[in-house]
Amino acid sequence: MTTEKSAGVPYLDLVAQMRPLRKEIDAAIARTLDNCSFCLGPDVAQFEKDFAKFCAAGHCVAFNSGTSALHVGLLLLNIGPCDEVITTPSTFVATSWAISYTGAKPVYVDIEDATFNLDPAKVESAITPKTKAIMPVHLYGHPANLEPLLDLCRKHNLHLVEDAAQAHGATYKGKVIGTFGALSGFSFYPGKNLGAYGEGGALVTNNAAFATRARSLREHGSAQRYYHDEIGFNYRMEGIQGAVLGVKLKHLQNWTDSRRRVAHRYQELLADTPLQLPHEAAYAESAWHLFVVRHPRRDELKKHLEANQVGCALHYPLPLHLQKAYAHLGYKAGDFPVAEKAARECLSLPIYPELTDAQIERVSEVIKGFFKKA
Ligand SMILES: Cc1ncc(COP(=O)(O)O)c(C=O)c1O
Repeated sequence: MTTEKSAGVPYLDLVAQMRPLRKEIDAAIARTLDNCSFCLGPDVAQFEKDFAKFCAAGHCVAFNSGTSALHVGLLLLNIGPCDEVITTPSTFVATSWAISYTGAKPVYVDIEDATFNLDPAKVESAITPKTKAIMPVHLYGHPANLEPLLDLCRKHNLHLVEDAAQAHGATYKGKVIGTFGALSGFSFYPGKNLGAYGEGGALVTNNAAFATRARSLREHGSAQRYYHDEIGFNYRMEGIQGAVLGVKLKHLQNWTDSRRRVAHRYQELLADTPLQLPHEAAYAESAWHLFVVRHPRRDELKKHLEANQVGCALHYPLPLHLQKAYAHLGYKAGDFPVAEKAARECLSLPIYPELTDAQIERVSEVIKGFFKKA
């Protein structure tokens, strides 16, 4: 987790969010300890109901991570060895892990320059008889362009799986993401828009049978203790994480509104710089998980920000098709030029609900100083 603290503007400040909630969090954790409900339990069950409602979904099944939720999600669709899943190379590696864990093969397609998301116009040519699903990522909180992807799914009889790990509460054409396809996976890793105090994730779906089987798969493939219907996993959410997430969920909409405020202020202040600023498509309301700017001199700008105590980060410096772990897939540099260029130019600025106007102004001033000096 990146929590680069500095005297200037930290990249992320989880303490600022925790401070006003501390009493409520302590009480929720104490309740879990008193109940001894360490694995799943009543707080997790309540959180599942509340998060399903937040996503306007029929069901939410809590997991110990977003990666496990996506892994089980693909198993529910009977995806396995010999199958292919089309996805983006510009994402955190866990999107691809979920595919690889099933034995299926990730097939990458290049992204759109403006949104960093899977480019629907390039997907159809990657579909083969082995393709079972398309898995877009709502990267940095900005929804992927879902309608053309859903059209392709209908045309080729494929499943759509949303990797919603970074996009809690984002909307596509006015509807909250998470139930556009068969199912979706969310992450509650601490730095996410809704972060646990440890690991956590959730599978969200409108399909009751999927939810029932997901509950079994996360708990050793059993619906009844010590009776195992299929090979399962220990993917349960901890009780304490359910309690923490229950407290934090009540604030999520306000936090998203604040992230929006930060993003819009950056957009105003940085409008006359040579940076390529993040674009919100007409169909989207981003959850603004990250604010990623672009510039060919990204590395120098990063050094300049750090020298001025402004935290920043790279999401992501190397696209997945060029990662050593995926060398066996046989991709090479140049295969996905848009994703590769984005990786060379991207720079994530501080964005979190507690960021003050003065901090936003300071970050912008330091950036302007870089271009003046140049
Ligand atoms: C796009 C994306 N997919 C999947 C994951 C996996 O989530 P987790 O870290 O909870 O396993 C993450 C989280 O980092 C992510 O950013």
